[in-house]
Amino acid sequence: MFLSFFFFFCGLALITQVKVEGCQQPKNVFLLAGQSNMSGRGGNHNDTNNIVKWNGKIPPECASNKNILRLNANETWEEAHEPLHNDIDYLKTCGIGPGMPFANAILAAKDPSLRSIGLVPCAIGGTRIIEWSRGTRLYRRLVDRAKASLTCGGKIRALLWYQGESDTSRHDSKLYKVRLEKFFNDLRHDLNHPNLPIIMVGICSADQGPFMNRIRIVQLNYNDTNVKAVDAMGSTFIADQKHLDTKSQIRVGQKLAAAFLSSFAHPH
Ligand SMILES: *[C@@H]1O[C@H](CO)[C@@H](O)[C@H](O)[C@H]1NC(C)=O
Ligand SMILES: *[C@@H]1O[C@H](CO)[C@@H](O)[C@H](O)[C@H]1NC(C)=O
Ligand SMILES: *[C@@H]1O[C@H](CO)[C@@H](O)[C@H](O)[C@H]1NC(C)=O
Ligand SMILES: *[C@@H]1O[C@H](CO)[C@@H](O)[C@H](O)[C@H]1NC(C)=O
Repeated sequence: MFLSFFFFFCGLALITQVKVEGCQQPKNVFLLAGQSNMSGRGGNHNDTNNIVKWNGKIPPECASNKNILRLNANETWEEAHEPLHNDIDYLKTCGIGPGMPFANAILAAKDPSLRSIGLVPCAIGGTRIIEWSRGTRLYRRLVDRAKASLTCGGKIRALLWYQGESDTSRHDSKLYKVRLEKFFNDLRHDLNHPNLPIIMVGICSADQGPFMNRIRIVQLNYNDTNVKAVDAMGSTFIADQKHLDTKSQIRVGQKLAAAFLSSFAHPH
C-alpha cells in the first residue's frame, strides 16, 4: 500500500516534470527566414585544406542568455547559441548571423513585455524567392515551424526576412515585387495573422550587378504599415567578399531590433 502510493507520487512527479519541460515556451516568437546572410556566415574562413570553417568567436552581442531560446530542427525549444542556423542550414558552414544580436538588443531594451525571446531559424543559403512561394518545401517548413513554435502559448511578433541576393538577374528582379508581396500575403493568411509585422533587410553589394537596385527599391519602399525595412548598405564582408562579417551582422541585428522596438513592440 505504502509502496504503491510512493510509486504513484513518483509517477506524478515525473509526468509534471515532463510536461513542464515539454512546454518550455518563450512569450515573444520571431521567425527568421531568407538566405545565407540570415543564416549567418560571420567568422567563416578557409582552413589550410581550403575547407570553410567557423572561427568559433562569439562577441558579447551574440552571447547566449537563458531568456533567448531557439526552436531546433526537432521543433523543440532550447537555449539559443551561435551558430543559430547550424542544424537548419546544415549543408553549409554556418557562422554568426543577425538573430542573436537581434535578440540580445531586444532584451537590452528592458521592456517588461519583452523579457522572453524565442527565435525560429528557417533560412537556407542561396535560395531564390520562388523557393519560398506557397507549396514549396521551404514554405511548408516555415509554416510548420511557426505553428510548432506556439504549441504551449506565446505569440509570433514578427518575421525577419533577409533575402533577395539570388533574385538579382534581369528577369527575376522584375518579378521580385509581385513574388515578395504574394509570399508575405500567403504567409500571413496561412498563419492566421493578417497583420504579422515583417522587418526585412535591404540588400547591398559590391558585385551584385546592375539589377540589384530593383530589389533594394522593392525592399525599402514596401507599401504596408506593418512592413519595415532596414538597410545593409555599408556592411563589410568576410574574405569571400560575399557574406557579411560578424561586425556587420551585429549591426544588422541591432537595426532589426531598433525597427521592431520603434514600430511593433507596442501595437495599438
Ligand atoms: C532530433 O531527432 C533526431 C531524429 O528523431 C534524433 O536522432 C536526434 O538525436 C534529435 N536531436 C535532438 C537534439 O534532440
Ligand atoms: C549578403 O548580403 C550582402 C549585403 O546585403 C550582399 O551584398 C551579398 O550579396 C549577400 N551574399 C549572398 C551570398 O547572398
Ligand atoms: C499604398 O497603400 C495604400 C493603402 O493600401 C494605397 O491607398 C496607396 O495607393 C498605396 N501607395 C502606393 C504608392 O502604392
Ligand atoms: C574559400 O576559398 C575559395 C577558393 O579559393 C573561395 O572561392 C572562397 O570565397 C573562400 N571562402 C571563404 C569563406 O573565405
